[in-house]
Amino acid sequence: MKDSVIINEVGLRDGLQNQPKHVSTDDKARMAELLVAAGLKYIEPVSFVSPKAVPQMADAAELTRRLPQRDDLHYTALIPNLRGYQLARDNGYRTVGLVLSTTDTFNQRNLNMSLAQAIDSCRSIIEAARADGVATRTYISGAFACPYDGTTPVDVTLDLTRQMIDAGSDEIAIADTIGAGNPQQMKDIMAPLIQQYGAEKFFIHLHDTRGLASALAWAACDLGVRKFDASVGGLGGCPFAPGATGNVATEDLVYLFESVGLHTGIDIQALREVIALASRATERALGGKIIRWMESQEARGRPCDLTSG
Ligand code: COA
Ligand code: ZN
Repeated sequence: MKDSVIINEVGLRDGLQNQPKHVSTDDKARMAELLVAAGLKYIEPVSFVSPKAVPQMADAAELTRRLPQRDDLHYTALIPNLRGYQLARDNGYRTVGLVLSTTDTFNQRNLNMSLAQAIDSCRSIIEAARADGVATRTYISGAFACPYDGTTPVDVTLDLTRQMIDAGSDEIAIADTIGAGNPQQMKDIMAPLIQQYGAEKFFIHLHDTRGLASALAWAACDLGVRKFDASVGGLGGCPFAPGATGNVATEDLVYLFESVGLHTGIDIQALREVIALASRATERALGGKIIRWMESQEARGRPCDLTSG
């Protein structure tokens, strides 16, 4: 069987949470339909957070009811606290994303908790989820750098990751929340973790703020990681992480992996319809590098041959 990569689409959540323009539930539901039509099977459509803190996520329950349903579709909801966990569970989610930032300041700004409180909170959520049979993926947010305190020592990221695995978290997502990491850091973080726990335990979550997201993705992929978050069109930004721009674009990761023979199951041409809708809904020009290239080919009347080489 061809080697394959899982791309988890987080545009509806990470991508939209920070948009100044309100995006309607109708547009979000249509985006979800088009994403599924383009081949996405892993989607994070919502977070269950305070609607005062993140107004764009206030329709989480309603959007959840309107998502396409099929046995091979895997939806996750991001949650900041136990209350969020209960809402996600009660709305039918079988996998939840927890958030643990690497510094006191970032946890305080994001969750109104100290680092120690956030660790305890994650432990309580993981315990509750295990009792309910709900799977947990814990995001180590700011794993490469904190928006407030600068570069994160590798040992801090490793230590928090191990604490969450010991607590029973099924998966860990190593998150470059502000897009400040480099490929050497990726190797320094992932090599020991993969050696200890195996690559299947890990997701990688990247933002392309400084243009290195694909390089980081490749560094992780080369070490054996096969699960990545991305946002269609490169949507994104975190309201609690100043300076963070969009997630790595789904279409750019699809092109990267397919170019080296790793199957994603996602059709870049079909994603263009989602990107067009997201651009209209957010009133922003969107699209990863590969879309720009396709547009320039088309403008010159040349074919878009997506096989590289
Ligand atoms: N979902 C919905 N509402 C929630 C909630 C949740 N998970 N957790 C708390 N609330 C509500 C409370 O009911 C309360 O509402 P009220 O003012 O109408 O009574 C209000 O939020 C404050 O509750 P409190 O427990 O005191 O939380 P807080 O003020 O310490 O805020 C968070 C903490 C985490 C709830 C809030 O900061 C938040 O939602 N942040 C979002 C973080 C985020 O999305 N980050 C980006 C992704 S990582
Ligand atoms: Zn993010």
